[in-house]
Formats: sequence, C-alpha cells, structure tokens
Amino acid sequence: MLPEDPIEHAVTIRSVRRLNSLTAVLVLDAPLIAAAATPGQFVNVTCDQFLRRPIGIMAVQRREGLIELGIRAVGAGTRNLLQKKPGDPLSVLGPLGHGFQLDGLRRVITVGGGSGVFPLFFVQQVCRERGIDALAVCGYRSKNESILRDEYAGLGCQTLFAADAGDLDVAGQAADALAQLLRQLPPVPGTAILTCGPRPMMQAVAELARRNQLPCQVSLEERMACGIGVCLVCACQVKADGKTGYQRCCVDGPVFDAEVVAW
Ligand SMILES: Cc1cc2nc3c(=O)[nH]c(=O)nc-3n(C[C@H](O)[C@H](O)[C@H](O)COP(=O)(O)OP(=O)(O)OC[C@H]3O[C@@H](n4cnc5c(N)ncnc54)[C@H](O)[C@@H]3O)c2cc1C
Ligand code: FES
Repeated sequence: MLPEDPIEHAVTIRSVRRLNSLTAVLVLDAPLIAAAATPGQFVNVTCDQFLRRPIGIMAVQRREGLIELGIRAVGAGTRNLLQKKPGDPLSVLGPLGHGFQLDGLRRVITVGGGSGVFPLFFVQQVCRERGIDALAVCGYRSKNESILRDEYAGLGCQTLFAADAGDLDVAGQAADALAQLLRQLPPVPGTAILTCGPRPMMQAVAELARRNQLPCQVSLEERMACGIGVCLVCACQVKADGKTGYQRCCVDGPVFDAEVVAW
C-alpha cells in the first residue's frame, strides 16, 4: 500500500538526450514532482523488470513542470529505460527520500563519480538558485566516458574533472582531485562536501573531509525494491551512540551524514 500522499504519477517522456552509448537523460513531464523535489531525492521508475528502479533526480525545470533523469545502463532495467522514446508513458513514484541539506551552507563542494555526477547536478542547480558558492569535482574513467562536463560548466560553478586515463584536468580519481582542490582552497566557514558515486570513492571522500574537518553528506546507492520504507530491502548499516544498527536507505536516506555510515 502506498502512503496517502499522491506519490505515484503516470508521466510521459518529453525527450531523450543520448550522452554516449551507455547513458542518456530522460526528460519527463512530471509537474508535481518538479514542484516538490529537492536535490538528492530520487524517483522509483517502472521498467520491463518486476521491480521499479530507483533513479536520482538530475535536474528540474519547475516552470515547465519537467524533471530530468540521468541513466547509465548497468543491467536489464536501466537498458530498458534507455530504449524509451518521447511520448512513452512511465509510472513514477516520487519524489522519494531525504536529500542533501543545504540550509546554512556558504560553500558546497560536490564530488561525483560515474553515475553519481547525475544527482549532484541538481545540487549545483539549486546552489546557483540560492547563491551558494559551489564547486564541482567529477571523476570518470576517461575523457571518452565523461558525461555532463559542458552542463556542469554551463552552470557557472568552478569545475575540476578527473580521469583515471589522465586525459582531463587531474590524472586519477575524484578523491585525488578533491585532495588537490582542498590543498589550494582558502578555508571558508560553512563549507560542506556532498558526494555520490561508487562506495569506495565516497569512503575516500568522507575520509578526506574528516581529515580537513569538513562536514560531509553521502548519497548511498543500496539496492531497493519498494522505495517507500516498507520492504526493508535497502537496509544499510549506520552508527549511533557507539553502536551499529540499520536504517532504510529509501526513507532515512539516501543521503546520510558521512559520520554515521558504517563503511
Ligand atoms: C537512491 C538511488 C539513486 C540512484 N540514481 C541513479 C541515477 O541517477 N542514475 C543511474 O544510472 N543509476 C542510479 N541508481 C542506480 C540504479 O538504480 C541501478 O543502476 C539500477 O537499479 C540497476 O537496475 P538494472 O536492472 O539495470 O540492473 P540489475 O540487473 O538490477 O543489476 C546490474 C548490476 O548492477 C548492480 N546494481 C544494481 N543496482 C545497484 C545499486 N543500487 N547500487 C549498486 N549496484 C547496483 C547489480 O549488483 C548488478 O551487478 C540509483 C540508485 C539509488 C538507490
Ligand atoms: S526499498 Fe523497501 S524499505 Fe527501502
């Protein structure tokens, strides 16, 4: 059973923007979600598989009532979503989960790896709307596999792109680029690091944040089923009062304070 709030939406795909052979941005006509969504929240989308698939909200165009989802093909469900065409219907639950906390921040550094650069784009969009100083670090395997570089640059935030292959600004991973950035940046009170991507990358980012005494928020990508707190598939380990326990990634997260995550 769904909660009483109308979170299930029958929406239509407005357009599909292919980024490379494995990734695309789906633009959906979803005015209620566009009006309510905050950065870090996600939607749970139907595909040709039994279960819906959780996808972070990459951007909203509030006036037009559109949301954008950046999707990378990793298996059958995401491959099916990438075959969708303009005009196709989709059932979408959302906006779901607790997103990033931006209140009180004066400077935000987003650190994304792989498909983690999609949801962090929404953070940068809202930072620009709110006048929060924002920097974006994005990590890729190579320039060839990089995505959204022009879109991030177009937001006007300071960007630093890393590639394992060594063919972008920094040779190495997103955490290496963050370390370089933190060595150069003058400290500003109210700075926080927000990260999304592969778990080892987020762990390295959280460790760098801890060493630099900066707060860090991480968006965990657990496997999910219901997306609304009912099935417990998404249980993730967290620390509280010196003990380790479990929380539901879909409703207690997906964004958590890095300090409480049991890495
Ligand atoms: C809150 C949240 C936000 C997300 N946002 C995005 C997004 O913006 N863009 C995007 O492309 N993807 C995102 N994902 C990941 C996406 O949900 C999975 O890639 C998708 O569910 C995989 O389904 P599939 O049927 O294609 O692959 P499956 O056949 O289910 O799995 C293929 C492979 O991917 C692995 N896998 C599947 N799901 C996950 C997961 N959640 N975490 C780690 N490994 C996984 C499986 O173990 C398997 O090895 C997000 C996940 C969560 C929980
Ligand atoms: S996915 Fe069902 S409780 Fe989180």
